[in-house]
Parts: sequence; structure tokens; C-alpha cells
Amino acid sequence: MNSENSSLYAYVNGQLQALSTAIERSDDHGAGALLADLLGTESDRSTTCAPPWPSDVSDDHTPVEFSVALDHGRRPTIRILAEALAAQPGLGANMDAARRLLADWAQRYQLSLDRYQRVAELFLSAPPVSQFALWFSLVFKAERRPAIKVYFDPNCRGRDRAADLVAESLDRLNLSAAYPTLRRHAMRPDAAEGDLDRYTFFALDLHDGPRSRVKVYVSHYDATAADAARAASAVPGVDADEVAEFCQLAGGDTAVFGGRPLVSSYTFVEGDADRPSGYSLYVPIRSYVADDVEARDRVLALARRYGHDAALIDRAIDAVARRDLADGVGLLAHVSLRLGDDRPGLTVYLSSEAYLVEPPRHRDEVARRLALQR
Ligand code: TRP
Repeated sequence: MNSENSSLYAYVNGQLQALSTAIERSDDHGAGALLADLLGTESDRSTTCAPPWPSDVSDDHTPVEFSVALDHGRRPTIRILAEALAAQPGLGANMDAARRLLADWAQRYQLSLDRYQRVAELFLSAPPVSQFALWFSLVFKAERRPAIKVYFDPNCRGRDRAADLVAESLDRLNLSAAYPTLRRHAMRPDAAEGDLDRYTFFALDLHDGPRSRVKVYVSHYDATAADAARAASAVPGVDADEVAEFCQLAGGDTAVFGGRPLVSSYTFVEGDADRPSGYSLYVPIRSYVADDVEARDRVLALARRYGHDAALIDRAIDAVARRDLADGVGLLAHVSLRLGDDRPGLTVYLSSEAYLVEPPRHRDEVARRLALQR
């Protein structure tokens, strides 16, 4: 591999282009340029060096993660979750780099920063004490400009302040009635606040259409499928049993998700009062499989179950993978189910693994762990 081929940008952009081909998306949207903006000066650095910053975007600290979202009646979309890194990465420096990038993109893509500005100072007035201050996601939809979303970290002032920050943010966005609903449904009643169920992200769409969303994410530690169903029941019309079944299928009959946590996201749009209008559940499938062959098999079975194009997902996995699926675990990071429309949407999160591949676990070890829980 020559040094040009192994630059972080070349590596990740190669995966992005392959992914576009795999799902038959020739419209490029200047995705490569956005990626270069995000990676900044890191873009030239070789992937054979250690990651410059321990980004929590992905397990091996690649500051970029791909996902492919399937919805009935719509074309599949490619998305990127990413952290902007400063030339000399650090908590404050990365935050400043992210703000500069946002200001730049806001001009270039006519983003709407109205709601962002109402809450930004709550999260960005000082460098975070947590892992990050501001992440971005880019959504590439057919024949449209890329949609950009920002993620704040509710734990940026310390975990004990997370609930207050979420409540205050919702309040500033005229969604104050939503907070008690979250508290009632997303938090297990028998646990101390912030112990088992924790706010992880507060996200905003940066456009001002009527479908512009506010999303609140909650991680559920040591949760069961029934706990996820309970969390989902905050949203009117959501089939909570379906959520439980999805957990079971994605988790391979895991009883207690004691590895990485299940995650709920609640979607609010203008006009929502106390109740969210959408719900998604994310299963960190990589913690509950021996290797990526097992993860792939489960995800393809889920695609068939929900009437999505399994072959397309298989091609997407192939496009991002730079190794045999049997030789590692974590390429398939999460799989999520999106409820709120008529038929559930499915999203598969794919790690770049630019820096590192997690070795497979022994199947016996996974089976033993499952048996211990019973
Ligand atoms: N890597 C982190 C995690 O697994 C953050 C993250 C990236 C994440 N993509 C995600 C969390 C999708 C939930 C869903 O927690």
C-alpha cells in the first residue's frame, strides 16, 4: 500500500464510494468534499499511525461511521456520523474545530441554525468534561442537498447534569412537556437517576422544514427486551412487542444486554406536545455475536422479516469491509429499527475499521455467557 492509499481520507472515501456503488447511488452530492472538511488536517495522515484522538464515534477511534437506512417506499440512504478533529486534537480544540466547520457549512449549505442557537451555549460554553462536544451526521438523499444534523453530548458538564441539560434544552425548543414523558418511560423506575438509563445524545436537524427533528437518545444499561419495549411505549402507536422481538432477534436471544447498551431515540417535530412522534431502537449487535458472519446473518434475517432488500444490505457490508467477515467482530456495529411510519425502517451501522479490527470471539464463549444469564 503506498502512503497515498493509506491516508485516512483515501481509506474512508474509498469505502464511501464503494458504498454508493453498492446501493446504486451515482449522485455524489460532493460527499467526498464534505468528508475532507470533516477530517481536516487528519485527512492526509496515514491509517498505519495511531489514531490522533480517541474518538468515540467508533470502537477503533476512526472518527467516521457509515450507515445505510432502508425505508419502505423510499430509496435507501447513506449516512455518515463523524467527529471533526482539530489539527492538535483536544477537547476544547475539537469543539472549536467543530464550531468553525459548522459556521462554514451553514453559509455554504444555507443551514438553519435557529434552534441550534437556542441551545448551543448550554453544551458549548466550555470544553466538555466528557468525550466530545459536537458531532455531525450527513445524510445523502437522492436528488437533494446533503442533510446535516448535529449531536450534543448531555454529559458534557458531567453525568449528574445530563438530565437537567436535556430538560432545559427541550424547554428552550418549546418541548417542555416532553421531558416528563421521557423520564416516565425511558428511565427504569427502580433505579437511581442516571444509573441504568442515561441520556447520550441530543440531536438537531439543521433545516427548518416542518419535519425538522429534535432527537433525544437514551442508553439502557443491563436492559432486557422488555425494558426496551417499555421505553418504546412512550410513543403513541408504536408496537412495543415488535421492539421486544427486534431486540431478541438482533441480540440472538440475549436475556440481559450486559455488554454495550441498548439505545432508544425519541423524535420530536414541531407540534408534538408531551409525546414524541417517532421511536428507534439501536442494538449494538457487535457485543452479542462471535464474529461478523454471525452479525451479518442476523441482520439479513431482520431485513427479510421487515420486507427490506437483504441483498442490498449484503452489498453494502461488502463495500465497506476490507477483510473476511469471519476474521473480526465490530464491522456491523449497530442495527436499528425505526417505528412511527406504517412499516418499520431498518438501519445498519458499518464501522470503517481504518485503524483496527477487533478479533473474533469464540462461539463457545458467547454461548457460555448467554447460558450464564439464564
Ligand atoms: N460508538 C458509540 C457507541 O457505540 C457512539 C455511536 C456511534 C452510536 N453510532 C451509534 C450509539 C449508533 C448509538 C447508535 O455508543
